[in-house]
Amino acid sequence: MNYLSLYNNYKKQATLRQLEESAIHFLFLSLFDFNKEELFMALVDINSNVSDINLSKIEKYIDLYFNQSIPVQYILNKAFFYNYSFYVDNRVLIPRSETELIIEFVKSYLSKHNVSHRVKILDLGSGSGCIGIALSKEISNSELTYVDISNDALDVLKINLELSGVKGKIIKSDWLNDVDDKFDIIISNPPYVEKEYQVSDYVKKEPKDAIFSQGIEHYIKIIDNVERVSLNNTLVIFEHGYLQTKIIQNYIFNKLGVLSNTIKDYNNLDRITYFNISENLKSRLYIFPTDTVYGLSSRYDDIRATLEIYSIKKRDLSKPLPVMFDSLETIKTICFVSEKEEKVIKRFLPGPLSIILDLKIPSYFKEKDIAVRIPDSTQTLEILRKIGPMRLTSLNESSKEPLNNDLIIKKEYNTMVGNIYYASNRFSNIPTTIVRIKDTIEILREGTITKEEITRYLNNEY
Ligand SMILES: C[S@@+](CC[C@H](N)C(=O)[O-])C[C@H]1O[C@@H](n2cnc3c(N)ncnc32)[C@H](O)[C@@H]1O
Repeated sequence: MNYLSLYNNYKKQATLRQLEESAIHFLFLSLFDFNKEELFMALVDINSNVSDINLSKIEKYIDLYFNQSIPVQYILNKAFFYNYSFYVDNRVLIPRSETELIIEFVKSYLSKHNVSHRVKILDLGSGSGCIGIALSKEISNSELTYVDISNDALDVLKINLELSGVKGKIIKSDWLNDVDDKFDIIISNPPYVEKEYQVSDYVKKEPKDAIFSQGIEHYIKIIDNVERVSLNNTLVIFEHGYLQTKIIQNYIFNKLGVLSNTIKDYNNLDRITYFNISENLKSRLYIFPTDTVYGLSSRYDDIRATLEIYSIKKRDLSKPLPVMFDSLETIKTICFVSEKEEKVIKRFLPGPLSIILDLKIPSYFKEKDIAVRIPDSTQTLEILRKIGPMRLTSLNESSKEPLNNDLIIKKEYNTMVGNIYYASNRFSNIPTTIVRIKDTIEILREGTITKEEITRYLNNEY
């Protein structure tokens, strides 16, 4: 029999059994020790007959594959991952192509962030070692640590480290329990297929503890301890089931205050969620001095951090927070500004006046308008120029005096707020006027600037 008839016959049988045809290709390549060109030549040459030895060899392997549902990778003790060859047997999960997205992601992350220093990477639940070893090969300045709870998996990892000629530290641990170093990047593809899920007979040959979980318990164990092994800027990457995105993202947010992002796989299904530990809620809260008081503040567009301010201040969500701007130009990026309003802004701001302006796009907090102010302080303006428009409320508990004592602020807020700027000048005690200028001028809170002053100015009386 020639190679082509044998090849086509097995491919047809694979299709009938709803198996992947590529497995036959893989069997032919590996079993006969062909490279792709050699296999192609054998297939196009109708006179190239399969020897009896080879025939009995392939029949034996095809029987294991078709009739005993053994994955080809286990039959051949070989799997490809990111174009690298790995030794595999039934002690480890067979590397999956969607996991290669992690390698792509890490490479593009490092080049985007211009990372050239040594990168310490933790491969948690390393199995065959495919993720860590591929990263070792792809990233020259990487230093890998591998963790798995399974002695069997660690034995296969050792074979692959040996075969690939890369180095790495190996730790047997239940997730992070026995890990005490700190890492730039932490990666895990933990078991995530829910126990009730019906898997094929092929998947049943893989180690159960590498595949099945109750729910997201493994992610929870990792997230609960991840800060201990993180540096300031650590990137954490998880592969997960496509229906687990929200529950994992919510857990990350509730535990660490960090927003995470998710990438889809080749089938357009959610597959990889990542976050940077530095982007936690704490780091998104600010205390800084305005011209009048210390303010507790968040970026205007940071909804979660703003919600955190409401919670810290026990403030009712129906009471909007005013927004500080550095300039009229920046105000115009968010608000409509009429001719009259512009005139008042140019005359009285920076200064003790808040003006209610209509928003171009209604905010998450359902406001149609916001109180806008440009504070009269070089230090505050510099901060606003750097960070952008900020929602702000004074740093006192409602009905108490504003908190202006640096030592007390440090003591009470240091663990809660990521950025504290201390005042370089004294505060002025000038009360701020709040005004709405439409057809009429409406004073919402009396302050130093009076309605008469604004009216006279708009009427060109001075
Ligand atoms: C889905 S496999 C991933 C293997 C490999 N990283 C990959 O992507 O192909 C999950 C791995 O996590 C390991 N594992 C399961 N529970 C663990 C635990 N509590 N602590 C550490 N590793 C664990 C399993 O032994 C298995 O090797």
